[in-house]
Amino acid sequence: MGIEESVAAHYGRGRIEEQILAKIAASGNDPEHFDIADLHGMDQLHVGGAAATSLVAERAGINASHRVLDIGSGLGGVSRHLARHFGATVHGLELTAEFVAAATSLTRRTGLAELVEFTHGSALSMPFENDSFDAAVLFHVGMNIQDKDTLFAEAARVLRPGSVLAIYEVMLMGGDVEEYPLPWAETAATSFPQPPLAYSDALAQAGFSVDFEAKVPLAEAAKFLEQSMAGGGPQGVQNIQFANLLAAFRAGVLAPVEIYAHMP
Ligand SMILES: C[S@@+](CC[C@H](N)C(=O)[O-])C[C@H]1O[C@@H](n2cnc3c(N)ncnc32)[C@H](O)[C@@H]1O
Repeated sequence: MGIEESVAAHYGRGRIEEQILAKIAASGNDPEHFDIADLHGMDQLHVGGAAATSLVAERAGINASHRVLDIGSGLGGVSRHLARHFGATVHGLELTAEFVAAATSLTRRTGLAELVEFTHGSALSMPFENDSFDAAVLFHVGMNIQDKDTLFAEAARVLRPGSVLAIYEVMLMGGDVEEYPLPWAETAATSFPQPPLAYSDALAQAGFSVDFEAKVPLAEAAKFLEQSMAGGGPQGVQNIQFANLLAAFRAGVLAPVEIYAHMP
C-alpha cells in the first residue's frame, strides 16, 4: 500500500458519520437539522478545536469576500466554521473518501451547502485550475505528507497573487518521535512531522513569502488533549493516540505551530 492509501485507511475506518449523528440525537437535537455548535468540536480534528480555527482565521484575515481552499478538510469542521463564522465560501479537498461523504452530509444537515463543498482528491495533485482561490488553510495535514515541496507548489499554483496561506500543524521541535500510535498515524511509515524551518524553506521554494509563525503554549495544548481524553474532543481518536501526543508535547519533541504566508 502507498502512503496515501495507508493514510486514507487510517482515517476511513467506517461509521464515523453514524457515530456523530447518534451523539447529536442523544443530546436532544434533530440529526437532520442542527447547528455546527451542536457538533461540540467532534468534527474539528486538530488541537484546540473550534477556538483554534477562529484564532487562525482571524490572524489570516479570512472574510466573506474570500473563496477559501481547505486542504485536507477531514470531516469538514474547519470549512463549515469559516463559512458560518467568517462568511467565507469554502472548498474542502480531502483524501479519505469516507470523510468527504461525511463532510458533505454534515454540511447539508447544518444548512451550509450553499457556501461549502468538498472534493475527493490529493493535496499533491490538486484537481483545481491555476489561480482558483484567494486564501487557503492547512490544519493538521502535513504530518501525513512527506513531500512538502509538492504540497506547497500545488498550493501556490491554485492561489491567486496576494492570497494568504494559513498553516496550523503539529511540528517537530527537537529529538525523535518515539511512541505510536498518534492521532494521525499508527506507525512512523505515515508520519512526517517536520520542523518549522523545513516548512518555511518549502514555502519559500514554492514562491510564498512567510509573514510570521507562532507556537501554541504547552499548557493550552495539554489542556485540550486532557479534555479530549475525558471525552470532549475530536471524533474517532483513541485515548492512547491523545496520550502519546501529550507525552511528545511535554517532552518538547512535538508542538502545534502556526505559520502565515502569502503569495506576492
Ligand atoms: C488530522 S486530519 C485534519 C482534518 C481537518 N483539517 C481538521 O482540522 O479538522 C488530517 C486530514 O488530512 C487528510 N489528508 C492527509 N493526506 C492528504 C493528502 N495528501 N491530500 C488531501 N488530504 C490529505 C486526511 O485524510 C485527514 O482527513
